[in-house]
Amino acid sequence: MKQPETPLFSRRDFLRTASQTAAVSALAGITLPHVHAAGTDSINIALIGCGGRGTGAAKNAMDQSGPPINLVAMADIFQHRLQGSHDTLKRHLPNQVQVPDDRKFVGFDGYKGALDSLKKGDVAIFTTPMAFRWVHFQYAIEKGLNVFMEKPVTADGPSSRRMLKLNEEAERKGLRVGVGLNSRHSRAMQQLHERISGGEIGDIMLMRGYRMAGPIGSAFSEKYPGPNNDLPGKPSELLWQLSRFHSFLWASGGCYSDFNIHHIDHLCWMKNAWPVKAQAIGGRHYRGNFVDQNFDSYAVEYIFEDGARLYMDGRCMVGANQQYSSYVHGTKGMAIAAKSGDAGLPSSTFRGQTPNRNNMIWTSDVPKNETESHFNEWTDLVDAIRQGKPFNEVKRGVEASVVTSMGRMAAHTGQEVTFEEMLNHEHEYCPNADKMTMDSPSPLPAGPDGKYPVPTPGEKKGKVWQEWYA
Ligand SMILES: NC(=O)c1ccc[n+]([C@@H]2O[C@H](COP(=O)([O-])OP(=O)(O)OC[C@H]3O[C@@H](n4cnc5c(N)ncnc54)[C@H](O)[C@@H]3O)[C@@H](O)[C@H]2O)c1
Repeated sequence: MKQPETPLFSRRDFLRTASQTAAVSALAGITLPHVHAAGTDSINIALIGCGGRGTGAAKNAMDQSGPPINLVAMADIFQHRLQGSHDTLKRHLPNQVQVPDDRKFVGFDGYKGALDSLKKGDVAIFTTPMAFRWVHFQYAIEKGLNVFMEKPVTADGPSSRRMLKLNEEAERKGLRVGVGLNSRHSRAMQQLHERISGGEIGDIMLMRGYRMAGPIGSAFSEKYPGPNNDLPGKPSELLWQLSRFHSFLWASGGCYSDFNIHHIDHLCWMKNAWPVKAQAIGGRHYRGNFVDQNFDSYAVEYIFEDGARLYMDGRCMVGANQQYSSYVHGTKGMAIAAKSGDAGLPSSTFRGQTPNRNNMIWTSDVPKNETESHFNEWTDLVDAIRQGKPFNEVKRGVEASVVTSMGRMAAHTGQEVTFEEMLNHEHEYCPNADKMTMDSPSPLPAGPDGKYPVPTPGEKKGKVWQEWYA
């Protein structure tokens, strides 16, 4: 597993290393079709999925230093979401938001119009719910575009394998692709990773990740109010599910995949390995009128080849203890990886297994302008584009998604699930994600009682993956 490239090259560094980069790339058989030379070229971006994260990612991109990065096209399935995001961004960055009405695209095929507005070497931002990642990535590759895509990347075997396959072509074309696992771009965690890999806390035996909160995002949903609803845009059941994607496995992998992937990813990074299997428990406790497909608590035990364990606890429950942090335990000491949130500073190491001041060996020291990992991930991507350096996080993003799904599947089925089984199984939640129109039915319509299937651990015996709706 590789650490992200260290960016922070000066213009002089760029000019000095550009020829070396070209030589290295040629040796690696990679063609780098379009290098934005620092100081001479601006990058355009297009935003597909204009919600909270998409608006944030576009701003992170446009806030980068160097020649201006301009937003030139936007796409969403809801007019009001697109316009809201546009107006917010325009208020903050009036000169860099250059999206006339004929480059605002509404509908499932809107991404095509938005990507057609870019030139080779520009960047497409994919911040819709997960279900459409491969569809949008496929078109971006065809167009020779660099990409920033949000996590999770996949929630099942077929789409994981498809993304890996598509990425071979992206690699061949030398496209730069960032995946929004932003902890990897936390400068504190990069320092921690180096120290752990250097043996500061010994061999890793145990890791713990906690994302325990009340109900968050759209993980809890009551019944679809019907086509004559009063919601903005009068959504069909399909559009309503997409606006509540944390509730539906086909759209997002559910709350386990969407919320917990950051801790799973960065803890596996600290271990320099992916776990080989998982077993888990979880359940729905106080669900009242909620009809989404989630459990409200998950306790997943990931098992590594060398016997080490990663415990991931995820909970969305009113009134229970809240904790959002991650820890690494080694034979000589321990570390706090994320002090709060997915990538909250500082990271620290300690002698022994108790994290108090007296035992502290080291705590991270990060320059003020690099404390925000969502900003750093763009710095790293943009530097790679401008400097002609290889940068592709898709394989790692798919692997983190498979590990996350293997934990979710273990909880939902009550079976032990291996990495290989998760990657290679045949069930796909939404094989027609590329054919959806505004009139399509949902891939998971409600039953006559307005409810959706929920996982029933232990009931589905054996590895009958095709039947595992959960
Ligand atoms: N890395 C992080 O820290 C982080 C934080 C938040 C969200 N995310 C990820 O970002 C993604 C979006 O999350 P969000 O919180 O912004 O959700 P959101 O609901 O605020 O935004 C999603 C947007 O995508 C639109 N959309 C849905 N399907 C579409 C399609 N087929 N084509 C075009 N637009 C479509 C929706 O209408 C909505 O405007 C998710 O995958 C989520 O996991 C990552």
